Amino acid sequence: MSMNNPRVAVVGATGAVGSAMQSILASRHFPASEIRLMASERSAGRVVPTPWGDVVIENLATADPVGIDIALFSAGGARSREYAPRFAAAGAVVIDNSSAFRADPDVPLVVAEVNDDAIHAHHGIVSNPNCTTMVVMMALGPLHRAAGLRRLTVCSYQAVSGSGQTGMDVLAHELDVLGKDRDLLVHGGWSDPGGDFYARPIGYNVLPHAGSFTEQGYTDEEWKLVHETRKILDAPDILIEPTCVRVPVMVGHGIAATAFFSRPVSVDEAREILGAAPGAELWDDNKVPTPLDCAGRDGVLIGRVRATVGEEGGISLWTVGDNLRKGAALNAVQLAELLL
Ligand SMILES: NC(=O)c1ccc[n+]([C@@H]2O[C@H](COP(=O)([O-])OP(=O)(O)OC[C@H]3O[C@@H](n4cnc5c(N)ncnc54)[C@H](OP(=O)(O)O)[C@@H]3O)[C@@H](O)[C@H]2O)c1
Repeated sequence: MSMNNPRVAVVGATGAVGSAMQSILASRHFPASEIRLMASERSAGRVVPTPWGDVVIENLATADPVGIDIALFSAGGARSREYAPRFAAAGAVVIDNSSAFRADPDVPLVVAEVNDDAIHAHHGIVSNPNCTTMVVMMALGPLHRAAGLRRLTVCSYQAVSGSGQTGMDVLAHELDVLGKDRDLLVHGGWSDPGGDFYARPIGYNVLPHAGSFTEQGYTDEEWKLVHETRKILDAPDILIEPTCVRVPVMVGHGIAATAFFSRPVSVDEAREILGAAPGAELWDDNKVPTPLDCAGRDGVLIGRVRATVGEEGGISLWTVGDNLRKGAALNAVQLAELLL
């Protein structure tokens, strides 16, 4: 295997994340000797222009993984569970965007610029964290290293692109249909735009329900925040209270977080740490970062850094990042760079 000029496969290449992976590999001049693109049989045969020449999309079900050095998977958990072990057995290192292997103790879960060293323990598969966890780790990772995170309350404001291309199509459609009669939105009487992609309409609405309901009344997205934060920070005892909310935003997951540490942390110390956090940008002086500000941008934005006013000694902050880039594709490419 040549890791200087690896042969790279993008699996799920036609999706929201896979498309971002292709453009990020190109813009970062990833030193691939060859790119292979794979998706379902629906897309197989289509020709995609890339900096490595025109590439014909292959059907994942029949593609031969032999010869691939690095495979970036973003085709859903079922595909990862079925094909990632086969690709790894054929010699590839798989960087997997799904949740399939994140809890596996033999699979490192890595946020580039937060816990890079963990990647070296891989046995052929590395997991890319959940997009919400990823964004909040960019702020909490450096604070944890300085002061030891003990307790965390987080509320996410998650964009519809977190549910893929279809999420964006559904939002655009519902804004169009529901927006036609503003009076009905103000006084009631609107009619459901139809479809069951989300449990309730997302246009002009917020859904305190991201993912699927699982144990104890929490959703799987909420449990990911708990388990993945503990694994990434290698701190199994952190207490976490998560609420995940889907909002009518195309791109950019926002997270409001309140954190307490093993000692009091002043707002000045927090600002100093966050101002130096790699891969993040601190917006200060009441300049407020929003999802629209982070869309298409690599750096995660941090703002509203303040001292807690109930119980003293903690820090409250807001962080927002492009879920398709740092939340998924950019981090996957950064992990591939760590393997070189
Ligand atoms: N969106 C995010 O913010 C985000 C963040 C982190 C992780 N992820 C994860 O990344 C994965 C993809 O998400 P996405 O947002 O890019 O979804 P998406 O836009 O719906 O794209 C899905 C991709 O998977 C492919 N696919 C679907 N069924 C397949 C099959 N049977 N065989 C082969 N390929 C198949 C699709 O190919 P066709 O076009 O041929 O159907 C498409 O390329 C998911 O596991 C998701 O959990 C997403």
